[in-house]
Amino acid sequence: MTILIDGKKIARNIRRQVKQKIAELGTRPRFVVVQVGDNPASTIYVQHKIAACRKVGIETVNVNLDSSISETDLLGLIEGFNNSTRFHGILVQLPLPRHIRLEPVIEEIHPNKDVDGLHPLNVGRLTVRSKIPYLHPCTPWGIVHTLDTVYPKKDGQSGLQGKKIVVIGQSLIVGRPLSIMLQNEGATVSMCDRFTPDLKQEVLGAEIIVSATGVVGLVNEELIAATGKSEVTVIDAGIARLGDKIVGDADLDIYDKVHAITPVPGGVGPVTVAFLMRNILKAYCIQHGLPMPTFH
Ligand code: GUN
Repeated sequence: MTILIDGKKIARNIRRQVKQKIAELGTRPRFVVVQVGDNPASTIYVQHKIAACRKVGIETVNVNLDSSISETDLLGLIEGFNNSTRFHGILVQLPLPRHIRLEPVIEEIHPNKDVDGLHPLNVGRLTVRSKIPYLHPCTPWGIVHTLDTVYPKKDGQSGLQGKKIVVIGQSLIVGRPLSIMLQNEGATVSMCDRFTPDLKQEVLGAEIIVSATGVVGLVNEELIAATGKSEVTVIDAGIARLGDKIVGDADLDIYDKVHAITPVPGGVGPVTVAFLMRNILKAYCIQHGLPMPTFH
């Protein structure tokens, strides 16, 4: 029987712990989310983030900017949030309009307030497995946590140690940082993308496939069979619109042919938002010199 991984349940568990720890703080962390333009998908994502903040006791400020704002003005606005002790977490919703470059925006956000975990200092600390507290990218952090529920720790060792994992999709938000996090768990990781010439050859021997491409049907029966494994876990971090439905990268046909799978919707999405809550709390603790909150 396939394990249908319940992302909403995992997210509730994380939110419950965040809420409890915020109650213990006796103060409410504040989060500012910036949206440039009115991309409908971004509006929905931002609404989900604000709703989750409300549930756990994080105050939010939603800044909606006209798509014509200049890069310089956006950077100036972020600088103001960096310098204000009122805000503990800053997130600029992506994608940005074409005239605004991504890199300066990511680098402008103070690393200790970068609750997306995309600043080069945070990515660097992740890469060197720094002991200095830093902020993780939310989707990869949530995916590693989700995989921990399928492959629990044993004797303090990650259940992912020695697992062959293929990550399909090399984005800055998901694929790249995820590959590093999985390597940090001791997994053997291969990186592919939608242009990989022979994906079937690449997945041979893989026990876990994580797909984050937005290519509908990329993870299909043939690909699962090409692993040569009887028990394959699929983490579907893809998202695409098919008519009025939101779908992932995985073909529905594979659902009864895998060991475990995250559905779309209701899988990676809610877990990502819950880990954003965890990051905002962590950012607050970093800024106040408090011990890092522990979760189970
Ligand atoms: N757009 C889609 N996903 C994300 C995300 O995780 N962070 C930001 N900032 N924008 C996004």
